[in-house]
Amino acid sequence: MASDPVYEATCTAPVNIAVVKYWGKRDTTLILPTNSSLSVTLSQDHLRSLTSARCITTTSNNSNANAVADRLWLNGHEEEIQQGGRTHRCLAELRQMRKDLESRDSSLPKLTDFALHIASENNFPTAAGLASSASGLSALIATISTLYALLPENGVSVSDLSRVARQGSGSACRSMFGGYVAWDMGTRDDGHDSVAVEVAPASHWPDLHALILVVSDKKKGTPSTAGMQRTVATSDLLKHRIDHVVPARMDRISTAIRNRDFDQFAIETMADSNQFHAVCLDTQPPIFYLNDVSRAVIQLVAELNRASVDAGKGYLAAYTYDAGPNAVLYVRERDVKLVLELVLRYFPQQTFDDPFHLGPEPAAASSFVQGFNAAVIPEHEVGAVARIIHTKVGDGPRVLSSDESLLNGEGMPK
Ligand code: DP6
Repeated sequence: MASDPVYEATCTAPVNIAVVKYWGKRDTTLILPTNSSLSVTLSQDHLRSLTSARCITTTSNNSNANAVADRLWLNGHEEEIQQGGRTHRCLAELRQMRKDLESRDSSLPKLTDFALHIASENNFPTAAGLASSASGLSALIATISTLYALLPENGVSVSDLSRVARQGSGSACRSMFGGYVAWDMGTRDDGHDSVAVEVAPASHWPDLHALILVVSDKKKGTPSTAGMQRTVATSDLLKHRIDHVVPARMDRISTAIRNRDFDQFAIETMADSNQFHAVCLDTQPPIFYLNDVSRAVIQLVAELNRASVDAGKGYLAAYTYDAGPNAVLYVRERDVKLVLELVLRYFPQQTFDDPFHLGPEPAAASSFVQGFNAAVIPEHEVGAVARIIHTKVGDGPRVLSSDESLLNGEGMPK
C-alpha cells in the first residue's frame, strides 16, 4: 500500500534590530502602529528561529476544519494556542489564504482540513531583549506559507505575508525580508496597507556589522506590548515623536541606506534610540530599560565618535537599544577591529570567539583614535557585559531541507 504523502516544511527566520523604533499601537488587535519603523535584518548564521510545521493527516479529527487541533512546541515545551490569541489569528489567516488557493485550483491537496503540528526553536535566549518574538513569529509565517504554497507565483507577496506576521508581533513583519526593511504604518483601519517593504537588500550594503553587547540575558522587566500602550496613554513626548520626528527621520535614514552614508545612518540611529528611551521615561509611571552598563556603552561610543569626527574621520559606530539593557552597535566592516578592541578593553570577556576572525590583536596597545579620552568611562569587570555576539546584516527567511526538521515521522518533536 502506498504511504500517505507527507506535507511538511522547515524554515529559519532572522532577528531584526530597529534603527527607527516601533513603539505604540493605534489598534492593539490588528497590531497597527502609531508610527512607521525601520530595521536591519541580522544574519541567520548567528541568530535565528527554526520552525517545522506538518499537516497531521492521520488523526480522526481531520474531517472538519473547524475541529482541527493544532499543537505548538516552543523550545521543546508544548504551549497552548489560545483561541483568538495572536498565534491563533495568524494560523486562521494563513488557512484562509490556503483555502482561497484551493478553491481556485481544485487539483491542490486540501491541506486546510488537517491539523498542524508546529515545533520552533531559537538559538539564543528567549525574551532576552534580542527580538525573539520577531524571528519566532516570522519563522512560523515563513514555514506555514511554504507548506501552504503561499508564494509569489500563487499571487502572495512577501509583503502580504508580512501583514500576517504583523498580527503575531508587530516587529515580526520586518523579519520577513532581509537587508534594510521599513514597516509602513499605513492609514487604513483594516491594516491592509500596514506592511513591511524592502528598502534595500543586504547585498546593497553588505559591510554593515552588528556587535550585540549582552548586558543581561535575563527576562526583561516591562514587556514591550504592555509598556508601549502605557506610553501611548500617558506620554506627550510620544505625540511629538509621531507627528514631528519619525516621518522625516524615515526619509533621511532610507536615503542614508540607499547612499551607504554611514555618518547619517549613525546620527539617525542613535538619535532615535535616545528618543525611544526618552518617551519611556516620559511614560507614567516611567519605564527604564537602560542600566548603568548600557549608559557606559553610550558614553564610550559617543566619545569614540567625537574623537573620530574631530579628527576628520567621521562616525565609527552607532548604538541602539530595544526594550532592554543590551546594546547593539552597528559598525562598518573596516572599523570592526578597532571598535571591538575598544569594547573588549572597557568590557573584558573571559573568552570571545569572533566568527569573522576580525577580532583585535591580543594586547595591541592601540590608542584607538587621536584625541580619544581614555578616561571617559572606567574599565569594567569581566561579566559587566555577559557576552558579545558579532554578526552582520543578512538575508530573509530560508527554506531548509527535511533533514533539518524538528519533527519526527509521527509529526511529534524529535
Ligand atoms: C522596542 O514587536 O515586541 O523592539 O507588537 O506588541 O509584539 P508587539 O511588540 P514588539 O515591540 C518591539 C519594540 C522594539 C522596537 C522595534 O523593534 O521596532
